[in-house]
Amino acid sequence: MSKLWGGRFTKQTDKLVEEYTASITFDKELAEEDIQGSLAHVTMLGKQGILPDEDVETIKDGLHRVLQRLKRNDIEFSVSDEDIHMNIEKTLIDDIGRVGGKLHTGRSRNDQVATDMHLYLRKRVVEFVDLLHKLQVALTDQAKANLDTIVPGYTHLQRAQPILFAHHLMAYVSMFGRDIERLQDSYKRINTLPLGAGALAGTTFPIDRHFVASQLNFERLYENSLDAVSDRDFILEFLADASIIMMHLSRLSEELVMWSSTEFRFVELDDAFCTGSSIMPQKKNPDVPELVRGKTGRVYGNLMGLLTVLKSLPLAYNKDMQEDKEGMFDTVRTMQGALQLFAPMVATMKVNKERMRQAVNQDFSNATDIADFLVGKGLPFRQAHEVIGKTVLYCIEQNKYLLDLTLEEFKQFSDLFDDRIFAILQPEAVVDARNVYGGTARGQVSEAIGRAEQQQGLTASWVSEYAEKSK
Ligand code: ARG
Repeated sequence: MSKLWGGRFTKQTDKLVEEYTASITFDKELAEEDIQGSLAHVTMLGKQGILPDEDVETIKDGLHRVLQRLKRNDIEFSVSDEDIHMNIEKTLIDDIGRVGGKLHTGRSRNDQVATDMHLYLRKRVVEFVDLLHKLQVALTDQAKANLDTIVPGYTHLQRAQPILFAHHLMAYVSMFGRDIERLQDSYKRINTLPLGAGALAGTTFPIDRHFVASQLNFERLYENSLDAVSDRDFILEFLADASIIMMHLSRLSEELVMWSSTEFRFVELDDAFCTGSSIMPQKKNPDVPELVRGKTGRVYGNLMGLLTVLKSLPLAYNKDMQEDKEGMFDTVRTMQGALQLFAPMVATMKVNKERMRQAVNQDFSNATDIADFLVGKGLPFRQAHEVIGKTVLYCIEQNKYLLDLTLEEFKQFSDLFDDRIFAILQPEAVVDARNVYGGTARGQVSEAIGRAEQQQGLTASWVSEYAEKSK
């Protein structure tokens, strides 16, 4: 059979042009959404009296058969039919005959492809909220198991102040919480129906866009037909959200890689998540976090790619916009892979509490606390800072830590010191002294975990509600 649009042409399309312009090799991923959109469209055509009921029934039966064949992998897509929309239409016409040609009444591929993308992406957004939620749960569970684990906290990658390891993990729970909020917020923009915009200007047929929207569970309609077929903001927004999620995962990845090193030995990733070396028998490499860190690059690249495709593009549809798909699919796959692995990897990771404790005992991360002690005794903070700086320097020269000094040694630097400082310098005391909302004191971290778990419960309900709505 010739091209669906062949009427105006007197020559065959060049083979290389066919291959170059076709999108079927990748947009076949939208097959189910395409049929879903067509079913709603043709039902509306019947309701509006644009097509007789019997034609509508024949087309719907035919579409259901195409769907069944699709699921059985029983359709051979062809590059000469260019894209998923025309491949499906052609398959339908091959099956039910000429009446299949009525499906495209009052519709263009421009509003059709946009609708498919909206249907596709809103499902993915719900799945990603679910995956992020699972990662949050794994991190929170590790935090609960480490409410008494003290670890050096860092700034500039230099030991700064001791913190609970639970507090460090809960920082990521907050970060992924913002990612969840961003995705949830994007849902309402994704959930806007373009269908009915036609090629760009609307259609001469008396269609009912609101009916199609309600059939497909879209909450809103595009207000402007040009915007409906030109808009790819919803994909950009997803790619931007994905870039931030991957950035967060890459930071956690980097920490896991560092913490797994012999230099740190803070955690050990489960064997199931590591790989070996083909030459060095002793190696156990943290490949998963390394690769997630690396794959962050392609996700940023996909965002930059689409931003650049859309830059300066005149309204309305342009073929350039077919370039919106591969980066989006690639981002979906890349991020699915990363998140699916991260939750079980975090859940099974062994935390080396003793090693963390040893690190805390062998540093000066309690220095701020004795400076604060001197301030409590009336010394201005600047002077206290100077006194402790000198004390630390003395320790370094003597190869000692603050807790190794005697009161006499302390008193060389200020006679305001008294023996209460030995209790103040204990890591537990140092941690518990940061008893502010959002701080690392044990009581504060337990409360933060409680609030996070409440939020996680709300996220779980959102996922079940929207998994249904986005079907
Ligand atoms: N395959 C096309 C795309 O993905 C579908 C829309 C084509 N529209 C057109 N007027 N050529 O963008």
